[in-house]
Amino acid sequence: MTVEVVPSVIPSSSASAQAAAKRASTHSHIRGLGLRDDGTAIQMEAGFVGQSAAREAAGLVVELVRTKRMAGRALLLAGPPGTGKTAIALAISQELGDKVPFCPLVGSEVFSAEVKKTEVLMESMRKAIGLRIKEVKEVFEGEVVELQPHMLPGSEASTRAISHVILSLRANKGTRTLKMDPSVYESLLRARVTLGDVILIESNSGAVKRLGRCDTHRQQHYDLEADEYVPLPKGEVTKKREMIQEVSLHDLDQANTRPTMAAANDMVSMVGQALLNPTRKTEITEKLRREVDRLVNRFIESGTAELLPGVLFIDEAHMLDLECFTFLNRALESPLAPVLVLATNRQGCDLLVRGTDDVLAPHGIPRELLDRLLIVRTSLYGLDEMLHILGVRARIEGVQAEPAALEELGKVAQTTSLRYVLQLLSPCAVLAQAASRPIISPEDVRNAATLFLDTKRSAAL
Ligand SMILES: Nc1ncnc2c1ncn2[C@@H]1O[C@H](COP(=O)(O)OP(=O)(O)OP(=O)(O)O)[C@@H](O)[C@H]1O
Ligand SMILES: [Mg+2]
Repeated sequence: MTVEVVPSVIPSSSASAQAAAKRASTHSHIRGLGLRDDGTAIQMEAGFVGQSAAREAAGLVVELVRTKRMAGRALLLAGPPGTGKTAIALAISQELGDKVPFCPLVGSEVFSAEVKKTEVLMESMRKAIGLRIKEVKEVFEGEVVELQPHMLPGSEASTRAISHVILSLRANKGTRTLKMDPSVYESLLRARVTLGDVILIESNSGAVKRLGRCDTHRQQHYDLEADEYVPLPKGEVTKKREMIQEVSLHDLDQANTRPTMAAANDMVSMVGQALLNPTRKTEITEKLRREVDRLVNRFIESGTAELLPGVLFIDEAHMLDLECFTFLNRALESPLAPVLVLATNRQGCDLLVRGTDDVLAPHGIPRELLDRLLIVRTSLYGLDEMLHILGVRARIEGVQAEPAALEELGKVAQTTSLRYVLQLLSPCAVLAQAASRPIISPEDVRNAATLFLDTKRSAAL
């Protein structure tokens, strides 16, 4: 059997030095599901090794989410520890891209002293549902050629006493002088707008966006410039613009708790039409959410918005209790539900459901919920696959090992777990270094394995 060992920590080579300097986290080698166009898994691709059936199933789920046919359904990744469940969920999120919301949560996170369990779940579900809002807005866009605040007669020269601001904007087809109220002046100050900048102002909210310096002011080319130069805007200063913004339902909930703030905030101002009552201040309540939902439904019906159902991923799902499961069960039926992906390593068909005294169920998940789940199993790896995963991780962590050392690690993995030997890689590298060896030898592996116990040995002591 051959094991691929790739050269690494050679301090002079900048690429490997970078790799060594970058912290390699548990899943940093995972870059997607590694599937072919027809949906079949490539044995070694995108950081993944083996686990083909589960990866293919995950690919199908990605396809269903993309085509919006999965909303309100759920997937359970079940399998022994260290078989790549979390890695697959992560790969799902990578495959979905950043247009589709992905909200990860760990089962134990719902148990907070301050917030109700169901509230944590509700908030996460709403973070996992996106909305793409299209809005045609009237905007002023141009280069600032005049910026003159006018004081109230008789008052001191402080921003508070400004009566209005005169702003002239120049575009390709003419210049326009605008008289604006003091709040716009504050926004201009906040955006640090000066003469010669190209800016965009929304006519109804007064939100200001600085686009950059106008090209005409570029004097010479520097190698390093802090400012971005943009061309003089085309057409008239006043124009209609179609703006598209992606927000989550949770963003909308939050924007509606303090609508006046939201309108002033440049980021959320784009969804000005999604604000219910601009003067009211409140908390996120059931009622507020219902109102937001109604508004969202109106947007969807009228075609101004499109729903982007995303994914709520709950790792260590066995940590949830009956109350949470019941909540999820019901929430999945709502028309605005994300795709739910659960992962658990609890095996066996009669595990106690948390929060009950005597309800036993497979994976510790109540049957009502299990019935709605598509279940994907991940299975234990063979020696070959483990060796390949070790090779991939060694490369990512920037450690070099003799093939015999990797085989030794593989042997250890067979009696312990993949997770354990992956943890051993770095200590092995340190041991090798201490012995002034550039490459990990089988001896380092044996040493590290005696220094750090696996769970079985630790429990036996
Ligand atoms: N098929 C694979 N290819 C490459 N790396 C893998 C594969 N499976 C697992 N790994 C890596 O092995 C380690 C353990 O996997 P992971 O954390 O995904 O397991 P898990 O099934 O979530 O375990 P647990 O039940 O303990 O949460 C991670 O570093 C992961 O990236
Ligand atoms: Mg996990």
